[in-house]
Amino acid sequence: MKKSGMRLAVLALVAAFAMPVMAQSAEADDAIKYRKWIMGTVGNHTQAFFAILQGKVPHQDALVYHARGLADAASHAKAAFEQNTAGEGTEKTTAKDKVWEGPDFNAGLDSLAADTAALADAVEAGDMAAIGPLAGAVGKDCKTCHDTFRDEHAN
Ligand code: HEC
Repeated sequence: MKKSGMRLAVLALVAAFAMPVMAQSAEADDAIKYRKWIMGTVGNHTQAFFAILQGKVPHQDALVYHARGLADAASHAKAAFEQNTAGEGTEKTTAKDKVWEGPDFNAGLDSLAADTAALADAVEAGDMAAIGPLAGAVGKDCKTCHDTFRDEHAN
């Protein structure tokens, strides 16, 4: 193979590997799995955070990590739900179809992102007076949305 031919072959190979990275939408099952990974991360950080806050486990040095991890994961939740998978795929999901039927769901995720960011800031600043109310607001965000948009018996 001539040098230029080789260069083209290498370019084609690079392009083939780069393609999935640039995908704008996913197979329904992959989209469902991804949003469950994001929400699972939100859930794990939330549980760990509250267990430390309530003194059930020590690990105080991890409190900022979990607060920031929760805020970071929450900031990606809206994008994770962008793809409407209602009625598609075989992957188990507890998301109700009405997730994609109005603005309320996205408003709920905006509220979660804002409250978790404020909580992480308060924890980082050691602002003890602010942590309680903000943690309460975050817990309310989870419950309000799950009550409306999740069917926990679907799994
Ligand atoms: C605006 C709506 C909304 C908010 C706010 C929200 N969730 Fe969820 N959550 C969902 C939906 C919808 C699903 C179902 C995803 C699926 O099964 O496809 C879900 C799924 C989950 C799951 C299960 C993930 C899995 O692996 O199946 C956990 C855990 C979870 N959420 C925790 C939380 C916690 C903790 C909070 C608050 C800190 C929270 N969620 C806030 C809508 C929300």
